[in-house]
Amino acid sequence: LALVERERDLEGVSIVVSAGGTREPIDPVRFLGNRSSGRQGVAIARAAADRGARVTLVAAHLDADVRPDPRVEVVSVGTADELGRAMDATAPGADVIVMAAAVADYSVAEVSAHKLRKQDSPGGLTLQLTENRDVVAGLVAARREGQTIVAFAAETVADDDELLERARTKAARKGVDLLAANAVGWTRGFEALDNALTIVDRDGRVVATASGSKDDTAHALLDAIAAVRVSPGS
Ligand code: CTP
Ligand code: CA
Repeated sequence: LALVERERDLEGVSIVVSAGGTREPIDPVRFLGNRSSGRQGVAIARAAADRGARVTLVAAHLDADVRPDPRVEVVSVGTADELGRAMDATAPGADVIVMAAAVADYSVAEVSAHKLRKQDSPGGLTLQLTENRDVVAGLVAARREGQTIVAFAAETVADDDELLERARTKAARKGVDLLAANAVGWTRGFEALDNALTIVDRDGRVVATASGSKDDTAHALLDAIAAVRVSPGS
């Protein structure tokens, strides 16, 4: 019975999930990017649909083998700015927002209209970057009553203590209801099919840890979201 109940525990709940990695153009043929595949965010979207939620996925450059569930409405974006606009447009109708996307912190100050030529910058090239706005901070500032906002943090850390410390600091700084932190590095986190999450609340309490497939960690995160929605701030 418990299994049946959990299966549809998000019936009637509207969720917006961002996934993937934004790309910031340098010129018509080049970009600054990151290694996010979109796999964890797409898994969260699918798991939420399985549990009865109405799901919108704001997708930035998902890997080719990462395919959103057909029940999920997909909004495709490219840059951090586009992702921010899509989130701003969809957030007002959402009960739950999960920011799993890797959003570029900077964009190129002056995008070249033509392909940069080596002869124009002999010996080396300096790109001027401008800081992008913090999308999730804007969503938190505009949060309406009863809305649950979840951020992610992919961190390079020496050990679990450092991961927890960084997760706590970031959750407090962002003002999100939950923050899911995972350790990443040259060989962990991105291409991997498995993941390990430490989930903290706004006060820095560890509400769950989960490891396994990205479907397993997606369900664990949704469990934690369902729990804060039942007893917010407890
Ligand atoms: N995020 C965002 N807008 C940005 C950058 C990040 O909404 N411009 C979101 C991410 O989607 C994630 C959370 O903020 O849910 C944390 O992202 P992270 O890169 O870890 O945090 P930053 O605040 O950018 O701090 P830093 O990169 O310096 O660690
Ligand atoms: Ca960042």
